[in-house]
Amino acid sequence: MPALYSLAYRRLLPSRFAVVGTSRSDETDDGFREDMKQAVQRYARDEFRQDVWDELSGSMRYVAMDFDDDAAESTLDDVVTELDGQKQLGGNRVYYLAVPPPAFPTIVDALGKHRTERSGWTRLIVEKPFGHDLKSAQELTALLRQHFAENEIFRIDHYLGKETVQNMLALRFANGIFEPIWNRQFIDHVQITVAESIGIEGRAGYYEQAGAIRDIFQNHLLQLLALTAMEPPIDFTSESVRNEKVKVLKSLHTPGPKSVVRGQYGRGFVEGEEVPAYREEVGVASDSMTETFVAAKLYVDNWRWADTPFYVRMGKRLARRETTIAIQFKRAPHPPFEETAAEGLRPNVLLVHVQPDEGVSLAIGAKVPGQGMTIQTVHMDFLYGGAFRTGLPEAYERLILDTMLGDATLFTRNDEIDEQWLLVDAIVAQWQRDRPAFPNYAAGTWGPPSSEELLRRDGRSWRRH
Ligand code: BG6
Repeated sequence: MPALYSLAYRRLLPSRFAVVGTSRSDETDDGFREDMKQAVQRYARDEFRQDVWDELSGSMRYVAMDFDDDAAESTLDDVVTELDGQKQLGGNRVYYLAVPPPAFPTIVDALGKHRTERSGWTRLIVEKPFGHDLKSAQELTALLRQHFAENEIFRIDHYLGKETVQNMLALRFANGIFEPIWNRQFIDHVQITVAESIGIEGRAGYYEQAGAIRDIFQNHLLQLLALTAMEPPIDFTSESVRNEKVKVLKSLHTPGPKSVVRGQYGRGFVEGEEVPAYREEVGVASDSMTETFVAAKLYVDNWRWADTPFYVRMGKRLARRETTIAIQFKRAPHPPFEETAAEGLRPNVLLVHVQPDEGVSLAIGAKVPGQGMTIQTVHMDFLYGGAFRTGLPEAYERLILDTMLGDATLFTRNDEIDEQWLLVDAIVAQWQRDRPAFPNYAAGTWGPPSSEELLRRDGRSWRRH
């Protein structure tokens, strides 16, 4: 809703537009509008303007329903049809499904049934989790495909809507200087970090089933990796971009058990505040074996990347919120300086700050001013805030608008989802064999010691913070 508000604020929503909210909670239209107003006031990135809100909320309705209840289903359909007539929407509909997995069959069948009764297009945005493993994801796709074509299904991965993630494509393919060195010959390794300082925010029911591997690794993390490693697409259409991403996902080699680390947080301090252990969170079993941290060494088995490790890590209750992609280049082959001169010099790193402090920075060696020759690492920085002097849109603004426009480039295709699950299923199967001693990292740190060890074994270390 904050994303819709920001679209309305910029006059990017179509003039003929209405929203109907539905869930089990008993709520009136006015109650719903009030709740949404509060959400917008609290979370939208723009100032609250009554006139913008009045226009948006004027066409907002609410229907309380149990998804299995046929009578409620027809009430929902009546309300939507009435709005369609009033606003002359031509039968065009976007259904945003942020629903529990067991509710899908009933909802999708009902939507499929009603679509045949009217003209106009129908698109489904499907929120995560998209299945729990390969089998359930394929079943869900089969269910959706009974009534909808692939180009009507928009599987959302909100990371793809982030400006900085899209900028990875601009950085790589709009500049001539990076692509020639974007390969195993010049790059030593890649590090991708998706660190969060927050815990599970009251979502124990979901998180206990998902864990970090399904919550972040299966989707956001693998998508960041695919965008970093993909070949240049022939154009920027949804098929071309996704064809290249899926090739990367297919080339991912299943890591052996020694190349994957999992962790769960114990008590600790995050940003100066004491926080409970994962097992002490409301709704979490006191002997839960759900992981809240994963680190892995992955290989993309193709000509561009053979033998180049992609180290990835993600976790909850880490020291800081930070999502970065670090491309670490090989050292200069023969620096002609005395060894002591370059003690403060690290290899070149191209660092993409996905969030916060969005931007890109390149670490290079520079001479320290003064007598003699001492070299140190300095940074050439591009910061969004400084360069464009405009706030960044929320990922959902872009994605909701793209759905209305029918552009699926920034959504995940079914074959991508399948490849992502194949890898996750293989890792999870290995996990059945042992029981790590959880908790194994304190909240507010950078994960378990075995995560450091994963890189130390290769003579490398995680980027310093
Ligand atoms: C969601 C996960 O997909 O992404 C959450 O379910 C996580 O657990 C969130 O906190 C992170 O999103 P962002 O945009 O804050 O990085």
